Amino acid sequence: MAIQGTSLDGSARGMWSSRFMFILAAAGSAIGLGNIWKFPYIAGRYGGGAFVLMYLACIGMIGIPILVAEILIGRGARKNPVGALSVLSGGNKFWTSVGFLGVASGFVILSYYSVVGGWTVDYFAKSASGTYIGANPGTIKEIFGEMLADPWEQAVWHTVFMAVTMGIVIFGVKEGLERWIEVLMPLLLVLLGILVVYGLVAGDAAGGLGYLFLPDWSKLVTNTAGEYTPRPMLEAMGHAFFTLSLGMGAMITYGSYLGERESIASSAVMVAVLDTMIALLASIAIFTIVFQYGLDPTAAGPGLVFQVLPLAFSQMPGGRFIGTAFFLLLSFAALTSAISLLEVVVAHFIDDRKWARRTATLIMGTVIWGLGLFSAFSYSLLENVTLLEDKEGRAMPILDSVDLIATNYMLPIGGFFIALFAGWFIKREVRERQLLDEKISRAFYKAWFLVTRYLTPVAVALLILFMVDKHLGIAESVLGGR
Ligand code: TRP
Repeated sequence: MAIQGTSLDGSARGMWSSRFMFILAAAGSAIGLGNIWKFPYIAGRYGGGAFVLMYLACIGMIGIPILVAEILIGRGARKNPVGALSVLSGGNKFWTSVGFLGVASGFVILSYYSVVGGWTVDYFAKSASGTYIGANPGTIKEIFGEMLADPWEQAVWHTVFMAVTMGIVIFGVKEGLERWIEVLMPLLLVLLGILVVYGLVAGDAAGGLGYLFLPDWSKLVTNTAGEYTPRPMLEAMGHAFFTLSLGMGAMITYGSYLGERESIASSAVMVAVLDTMIALLASIAIFTIVFQYGLDPTAAGPGLVFQVLPLAFSQMPGGRFIGTAFFLLLSFAALTSAISLLEVVVAHFIDDRKWARRTATLIMGTVIWGLGLFSAFSYSLLENVTLLEDKEGRAMPILDSVDLIATNYMLPIGGFFIALFAGWFIKREVRERQLLDEKISRAFYKAWFLVTRYLTPVAVALLILFMVDKHLGIAESVLGGR
């Protein structure tokens, strides 16, 4: 990426070479496992259509406003999240600690993100060696199960994935990666396009599209047993944060390199649209196949993409090649996201604790890697250790639990304070200087301001309270015992 100079401390700060590069880098952070691995399986798990619409509403009402807020804070301060919130708040301790929460979220998320990134690299190797070509659906499911049950296979690929991420962050994200993103991201889009066409033609188009886009609203507030639960709504909101890389300051960091004359609002909208497009395309490709084979869309969980797309690859002409290319591109998309997660943690130790980049990357990367082993072992050695329960009250594995805590609590809480900060506490002149540009009208600015000031914080707070209330039962009695 075109950050010229690696200094992150405001002195010799680099810039993106163009707005296009910023969009590409921000999209590189946003587009990742969240879009292709996670969104389809949670959309499936929480009942399809209504969840998808709720998610789209969250992207529009919460995601885009906070994305704008983060970029604005980053460019306004030209610092990492901890430094930025500290500078813009005049050194206020509370706001600085919001920056710390972000660094902590990066820590936690990367630990399991790298494990799933490892699965994708593993599947790249499996595809290239033709493991699942010609296999029947049962065998394809087993192949995934065997991987989950093998702690060492996962530990090895997790290590590989983390090592590459650390390697790139140590040497700084320069020219090389910029060119790769430029080529590989569009390729990923093309490949997804092919899979969507295949799914629509060879799969069950009506079944897949119907499941994804015809809402059954009751699914949004009940579990499969018909009992009230706000979990799907919280999950939709949490995922809006996760998929746009919000709530922990990744976009504050990226925004801090954005040129003074570029339009923040139009960049943010571009990134959100691209990100959402990829998630929807991946879901269409997957669910047309799910219904073709009569699989249960709610049941698959984190294995969905690994169990369903190989079914298509094993049938379609050139499937071995397409499958290999797909998992390679997915690994790459995961890598560009992982880099942004590690960069936030590392930038903080460099800026605020004066560590050398190399030391910060090696030490923090290794700690995160170690933490990730718990996730890597969560379906084998540690399968009996559970932190939380799922929507149906079943015990959840470590990886799923950690994902839920980070995504549904840490990110929304971080995002809540970022919205409050941008809507109420940042100086008006900073806000207006950053946002009012020739690309957007005053009306858009006003709309953003009102939404960020009132709607976003209230919506986020309500959803979190609903979740807490699940244990108190107030909302349940209001909604009636469904
Ligand atoms: N957005 C990425 C994805 O969807 C993951 C990610 C990268 C992320 N950086 C982040 C999530 C920062 C939260 C915060 O795969």
